[in-house]
Amino acid sequence: MTNDELILVTGATGFLGTQLVRDLLARQPQASLALLIRDKQGQAGQQRADAFVPAEDRTRVRVYAGDVGLPDCGLAAADYRQLTAETTRVIHSAATVRFDHSLEEARRINVEGTRRILDFAASAPRLRSFAYVGTAYVAGERKDLVREDELVIGQEYRNTYEQTKAEAEALVRARLSAMPGVILRPSIIVGDSRTGVTSSFKMMYWPLKIYARRLWRTVPGYPDAVLDIVPVDFVSASVARLLFDEAAFGSTVHLCAGPHGSATIQQIAHRAAAYFQAPEPRYVDPRFFFALVRPILFLALWGPRRRVLVSGRAYRDYFSMRMQFDTTNAERLLGPAGLCPPPVMEYLDRLFHYCVESDWGRKPVAAQ
Ligand SMILES: NC(=O)c1ccc[n+]([C@@H]2O[C@H](COP(=O)([O-])OP(=O)(O)OC[C@H]3O[C@@H](n4cnc5c(N)ncnc54)[C@H](OP(=O)(O)O)[C@@H]3O)[C@@H](O)[C@H]2O)c1
Repeated sequence: MTNDELILVTGATGFLGTQLVRDLLARQPQASLALLIRDKQGQAGQQRADAFVPAEDRTRVRVYAGDVGLPDCGLAAADYRQLTAETTRVIHSAATVRFDHSLEEARRINVEGTRRILDFAASAPRLRSFAYVGTAYVAGERKDLVREDELVIGQEYRNTYEQTKAEAEALVRARLSAMPGVILRPSIIVGDSRTGVTSSFKMMYWPLKIYARRLWRTVPGYPDAVLDIVPVDFVSASVARLLFDEAAFGSTVHLCAGPHGSATIQQIAHRAAAYFQAPEPRYVDPRFFFALVRPILFLALWGPRRRVLVSGRAYRDYFSMRMQFDTTNAERLLGPAGLCPPPVMEYLDRLFHYCVESDWGRKPVAAQ
């Protein structure tokens, strides 16, 4: 028996999205979901959804072929009409998370895609709430404590991802006076804190992998640089909860470890050294590394270590970050429900363990 809730989810096939769909189905046992999924690599949206929607819940899940980068989100006219008429809540999680997209391409998906979903939500007569999944890194190159109500204060951005997510968030903010909604800003999302399971081996995992495999040991960064990491189970559960929390509407919420829960690069690297039985990393001032050391190494190295130099550019500023994310709204809204991110040092070994067990995502691991 279903109720009249129809929740439209974009980005459902992603790292966060797959967990979110499962959480929504479990937490809202009478709601139905509409997943906007693009066809990819010869697989239709329905086939892609069947890979992660539990069989017993499939009657509550409808899949719509769409692409937020296209007019009307790439939806067929009849689908668009039906969806606007029936949707009661929207979670917009779709984005390109690549750091190396041109500004034009990143804007097409992250900014224009968000504008289209906002237009869709504004025309849905039964809309009860809208949740936008942003990122704490709209703070760009700030070095101070970032508050949840702040967005653009003249900061620079490290890449087109940060910039276009900030532009998209500005669009959402402008609409929240006319629409019940909440902006959610995770920091760096990693695997499940209870099992270590992850479907994404980007961000923290890439440097970790080359270090664990003894391909690289030099960190172009500061040992006391801060890494704010949150597990996907916390982020997903928080999004699923705040979508229904009227007290959250109109707010921006940092889904972050915050000043008390985050760790330094050195703390994480020290634990990794112990786990992977590797020598402790060496730290080099990033200004010196990128101005002098890297150009020389680029000429001297070849093969996999040279490829590390090339791929590593995307991460260059993430080893020297000083900023922290204030979590006042998150504590107020999620704390009473017992939702707070566990300190990263408590579950780090489980993340490492899953990396090894799954051979960094190459090997299937039996469900835990
Ligand atoms: N992962 C993190 O550390 C992190 C941290 C902070 C915030 N976030 C935010 O969390 C959200 C989800 O990120 P994620 O890590 O789950 O990323 P992800 O694994 O790369 O997933 C991105 C999702 O967006 C979909 N998408 C991309 N372009 C689309 C388009 N043009 N039309 C329709 N769907 C499209 C993808 O669909 P396909 O499967 O078809 O590509 C996928 O479902 C994003 O908004 C991101 O900015 C992520």
